[in-house]
Amino acid sequence: MADRDSSSKFVFPRWSNLLLPALIVSAVFGPPYAIILLGSAIDPNTTDVGYQPIQPVEFSHALHAGELGMDCRYCHTTVEKAGFAAVPPTQTCMNCHTAIHPDSEKLIPVRKSYETGMPIPWVKVHDLPDYAYFNHAAHVNAGVSCVECHGRVDRMEEVWQEHTLSMAWCLECHRNPEDQLRPRSEVTNLDWAGPTSDAQREEIKMLQERLPHRRQMTDCSTCHR
Ligand code: HEC
Ligand code: HEC
Ligand code: HEC
Ligand code: HEC
Ligand code: HEC
Repeated sequence: MADRDSSSKFVFPRWSNLLLPALIVSAVFGPPYAIILLGSAIDPNTTDVGYQPIQPVEFSHALHAGELGMDCRYCHTTVEKAGFAAVPPTQTCMNCHTAIHPDSEKLIPVRKSYETGMPIPWVKVHDLPDYAYFNHAAHVNAGVSCVECHGRVDRMEEVWQEHTLSMAWCLECHRNPEDQLRPRSEVTNLDWAGPTSDAQREEIKMLQERLPHRRQMTDCSTCHR
């Protein structure tokens, strides 16, 4: 107690001095740490819908796929053949941009990538957790359009995530896929408004008959393998 009286001016007990270094450390590093925690709670990858990262180049789908009418497969060449949808290499851009806007400032990172051979660091928009399996070719060849899952990309200046891509969302279609199918020639036509000929109606019927058994569509091991 004598010890205490002699230092009664101190509001805090003496042992708190030992905490000082820790307090300084947390004052300096605390806020950023809190931001990181908060950040992960509101991380668009966990809330998903509307996620629209800043891209290294102001590449516009509204211009290229919309106005200019380029087919998705000109750039995303693998969608019919592979599980993943390849983002185009710089060469694809330079097919046009060696001649079109060759001096554009917006295209500086593209020209730099072309010169150095380093890929443009595009930021991934859609990203399922690794434990969920997805396959583009299976969907595209079954007559499921990009628009069902990605929305009107051809009207987006910058791509955002349109749907949750949650398990419930996948299952909503897997329980009832018949009405989501279209002729395969129309899969990248995001404007498509329904069959216009008997041949189209025939193809849809054929695709419907080819669908896997409903039980297989909703079986856990279809998407978790
Ligand atoms: C001229 C080439 C080009 C065309 C044509 C094109 N894209 Fe893309 N696409 C890109 C590039 C480059 C990226 C990566 C940058 C970005 O996200 O904007 C991309 C990204 C995407 C993404 C986001 C990928 C991710 O990171 O999750 C989707 C979805 C997409 N495109 C769909 C489409 C659809 C649908 C069409 C047709 C309507 C289409 N694209 C046409 C070049 C193209
Ligand atoms: C088939 C030809 C073609 C391809 C391939 C192409 N573009 Fe373009 N791009 C154009 C045209 C045409 C314009 C617009 C010209 C105009 O009206 O100003 C344009 C405009 C642009 C602009 C705006 C330039 C400015 O200064 O306003 C950017 C940025 C761009 N493209 C990026 C890309 C990227 C990145 C890729 C590859 C993923 C790509 N383009 C592939 C034809 C193409
Ligand atoms: C049935 C839903 C569905 C359809 C149809 C679909 N996608 Fe995707 N797409 C996804 C999902 C889910 C991802 C995220 C995949 C992952 O993270 O493993 C994705 C990712 C992408 C990516 C990023 C690269 C990748 O493979 O992760 C691009 C580019 C893309 N899609 C383009 C397209 C285009 C172009 C079409 C139409 C030709 C299309 N998608 C049709 C659901 C779909
Ligand atoms: C708009 C409808 C639709 C949506 C949304 C959809 N699917 Fe599918 N999916 C289908 C159809 C149709 C098939 C049957 C394809 C076939 O003929 O094998 C299928 C088949 C599959 C297969 C089996 C592929 C194979 O290799 O045999 C997997 C895996 C799959 N889907 C995963 C997913 C996941 C994961 C999601 C959500 C991120 C999803 N799907 C969203 C319609 C859809
Ligand atoms: C059509 C594809 C599909 C089928 C079928 C499916 N899942 Fe999933 N599952 C997913 C996707 C996609 C995710 C990731 C969702 C996310 O990122 O939020 C997921 C996530 C999960 C998770 C993680 C927790 C959660 O809810 O996000 C569990 C556990 C799970 N699934 C169990 C199952 C079980 C058990 C079955 C069978 C009854 C099943 N899944 C069938 C696509 C599927």
